[in-house]
Amino acid sequence: MSQWQDLCALDELKHNARKVITTTNGLELLLVNIEGEILAVENLCPHDNGQLHEGPIEGTDIICPRHGARFCLRTGEVLAPPATEDIDNFPTRVNGDRIEAFLP
Ligand code: FES
Repeated sequence: MSQWQDLCALDELKHNARKVITTTNGLELLLVNIEGEILAVENLCPHDNGQLHEGPIEGTDIICPRHGARFCLRTGEVLAPPATEDIDNFPTRVNGDRIEAFLP
């Protein structure tokens, strides 16, 4: 059942920082703060399991460090090959001084 889950304290994710969090059900999330906008996506590239958190971020896109696939962090949409599948992205919210995501 999908529900809001606590991820971390807001002050653990400064502006333009990123953080990898493994949820209680084993999902590895990449959490990014882009100028105050907090975005959450799965941390795994569907092309060949690259770890997206190691890749450069350009605007609201992230580039897989392995072979250069590009994904939109806001939507999870794949924007450039060699990946052909989108990644999952998850709604986030700030609840008090905590960051939460709506997770499956
Ligand atoms: S593993 Fe990400 S582009 Fe190949």
